[in-house]
Amino acid sequence: MPTPSQRGLASPSSPIRKLVPFADAARARGTRVLHLNIGQPDIETPEPMLDAVRAYSERVVAYGPSGGDAPLRETLLAYYRALGHALRPQDLIVTTGGSEAVFFALAACLDAGDEIAIPDPMYANYLGYATLLGITVRPIPTRVEDGYHLPEGLEAFVGPRTRAVLLCNPSNPTGVVYTDAEMARVVALCAERDLFLIADEVYREFVYEGALPRSVLSYPELGDRAVVVDSLSKRYSLCGARVGCLVSRHAGVMQSAMKFAQARLSPPALAQVAAARASALPADFFDGARDEYRKRRDTVFEGLRRIPGAVALRPEGAFYQMARLPIDDGDRFVTWCLEHFEEEGTTVMVAPGAGFYAEPGRGNDEVRIAYVLNCDDLALAMRLLASALAKYPRAA
Ligand SMILES: Cc1ncc(COP(=O)(O)O)c(C=O)c1O
Repeated sequence: MPTPSQRGLASPSSPIRKLVPFADAARARGTRVLHLNIGQPDIETPEPMLDAVRAYSERVVAYGPSGGDAPLRETLLAYYRALGHALRPQDLIVTTGGSEAVFFALAACLDAGDEIAIPDPMYANYLGYATLLGITVRPIPTRVEDGYHLPEGLEAFVGPRTRAVLLCNPSNPTGVVYTDAEMARVVALCAERDLFLIADEVYREFVYEGALPRSVLSYPELGDRAVVVDSLSKRYSLCGARVGCLVSRHAGVMQSAMKFAQARLSPPALAQVAAARASALPADFFDGARDEYRKRRDTVFEGLRRIPGAVALRPEGAFYQMARLPIDDGDRFVTWCLEHFEEEGTTVMVAPGAGFYAEPGRGNDEVRIAYVLNCDDLALAMRLLASALAKYPRAA
């Protein structure tokens, strides 16, 4: 019997999805599961986008250009123009979700054996893609007590094989929004040490205090070293459509990414028809969603403050809260909640923290909470979490 690759065996399981079978079993027993484990917003997809799919009248759902269909490309270039970034057509490739943009960015900027420095904890799929590509992740450790802001002395995380820094801003899983001063430090480091700065900006509009974070595309000091991963999934509640994009002014990176794009033929046709209708949405489209998420964030944070032993700072952006809880092992706690805990016929599912860390041994007492439910359900979920923690049998 042939054995599968070492690469596959070494790949981490998604901390967001791996315990889902326990949630399925709970539901099969008749228990309602409040899902705070996955960043699937409950906000409705904008009507013009759904209408565009309903009105689709082509007789053949055909392949399109590898870099994306013209109407969506125009919509995206106009979106970036409105943010102040003048892009040339060759600076943008439509991807099958932001996930593919992560993959293309890593594959186009780094070789197997190269290193990338990433604040730890991080979006777990960076670890999955890095493993797939033979790239070593060098974690930049951050702590809940500092709200997961960056440590001093970033130079210490750059070695001879380091080719890039990857930031998620605003961050999944931590909710951090990097300050101008932090960004200036990272930009200076990348310029001095000639590193790519890959920025995952898929939560760009989801900030709850102050101005939108400045995109890495706007730092002249970076030259062409800026590479942006973007997605329409969260911005327009289009997660299942699978539309994102890769943006960079670096000709070599974009030429390589286009070869990868050609190898996978084209991004999804129907989804692009829907996504192109972003151009029909009003300029204040994000305001309502932002207000709603701010309330949700506050509901979760207040709930955490009432839990004895919980440590958390109020997140500044995205729709995630990481917290340290009085638990020994997040996987065990989440599994126990799904198998043994319910009140009012309901249980709660959060994502165990360890899977978001590159550094072994970290995050066992942390969880990630996605505040993607309405405030009433979130308030119930936080009460249940407190109750579950009070009843949870800790290892002797
Ligand atoms: C930080 C971050 N980057 C990328 C993605 C991938 O998004 P997409 O659904 O567009 O593949 C996600 C999805 O949760 C995310 O949170």
